[in-house]
Amino acid sequence: MEEFFQTCHNTTFYSFLSMTINKHILVGVSGGIAAYKSAELVRLLRKQGCEVRVVMTESATQFISPLTFQALSGNPVHTELLNADAETAMSHISLARWADVLLIAPATANIIAKCSHGLANDLLSTLYLAAECPVYIAPAMNQAMWHKTVTQENIAKLKAHGVTIINPEQGEQACGETGLGRMSEPATICERLLVQPIAPCLQGLRVLISAGPTREPLDPVRYITNRSSGKMGYALARAAVQAGAKVTLVSGPVNLVAPDSVELLQVETAAQMYEAVMAQAPYCELYIGAAAVADYSPITTESQKIKKQARQTTIILQKTNDILATVSQLNTPPFTVGFAAETDNLESYAQKKLHEKNLDMIAANWVGREQGGFDSEQNALQVFWKTGQKTLAMMDKTKLAEQLILLCAERFNEKNTT
Ligand code: C5P
Repeated sequence: MEEFFQTCHNTTFYSFLSMTINKHILVGVSGGIAAYKSAELVRLLRKQGCEVRVVMTESATQFISPLTFQALSGNPVHTELLNADAETAMSHISLARWADVLLIAPATANIIAKCSHGLANDLLSTLYLAAECPVYIAPAMNQAMWHKTVTQENIAKLKAHGVTIINPEQGEQACGETGLGRMSEPATICERLLVQPIAPCLQGLRVLISAGPTREPLDPVRYITNRSSGKMGYALARAAVQAGAKVTLVSGPVNLVAPDSVELLQVETAAQMYEAVMAQAPYCELYIGAAAVADYSPITTESQKIKKQARQTTIILQKTNDILATVSQLNTPPFTVGFAAETDNLESYAQKKLHEKNLDMIAANWVGREQGGFDSEQNALQVFWKTGQKTLAMMDKTKLAEQLILLCAERFNEKNTT
């Protein structure tokens, strides 16, 4: 096995594609300084036994010569949509059909915008439209360009269309700024492409997941909420789908796109989330309560906007129903997994919740610290069940969700075979 696979976080979580040899990878290189990293990427892919063809945008050829990619891929490099020679050798349609995977690395903000809007005015954007194979995109750009709302909207759109985004990394950028936007390392991209991240460990199971915050209205314009972004719950839904489950996602208000094959039930308040979850839970084999449900809601919601008259004011709150605890008390409850976000005493609070709410498993994480937690791309988890525990180190929430789903499946199978 090649050296970069040996550095996988935990190889037992991965199953290798049997078809790695002769896998046809079409690498699209667009015009960014990270194009030089794609030369190494092509070399690694070849080393894994893949056949590689490279398509370059015109601006990419200003960063790195097509000859470099020709030498590394062992194939002619394609640069033009309407080049008579290239057309006879391999048309854009034949190239798209040849590919088992289309990877765009680096993907500039421009090619991302073109692909998300279906523009086809050069070879690479046309290939994206013509491709019927899985598409992977590894963005690389200045951190401000990456964070710009329109870029994030384009990324969300591509994700919703089934494209896998290999998220950029944090660090020093060629422009001198520091932040999120560096293209992922070639070995990481290679691993994402060639390694099937998750086994079909939930095949045929019905999985119910709650995600995001709730909003508890005070009056028509104000509400009480929390910092949950829903990213962990949505990543879990995605991973459960990949693991073969039929997923229902009950979501509070978030700015995320749910995977196409998920049944999405959107709610706002804790009471609505309770109703939606309790209506589905009896029909599911696994429930993961990843939502940050409000513990208290205002006892009354004013029908008119509350005026600022008194110097001080009081809001009376009442406890909401504990959804998780109610699910675990059903006559035949699903395998029930809770979350515990804690600022202190992580383990003891998590263990207390595991027992008091009668859960099968609880995933605890720190909040209010520099790394991880609410609204972060990354997180680390300390997972507890009645007879054991496991630490999942700080990593991207997508990967973390895959690992948690595998752990849920292991414990679910253990419970159902003993
Ligand atoms: O008790 P605490 O709110 O810290 O427990 C967190 C876990 O309980 C999370 O899994 C959350 O989804 C769930 N919860 C719930 N209903 C509530 C409050 C929390 O399901 N009303």
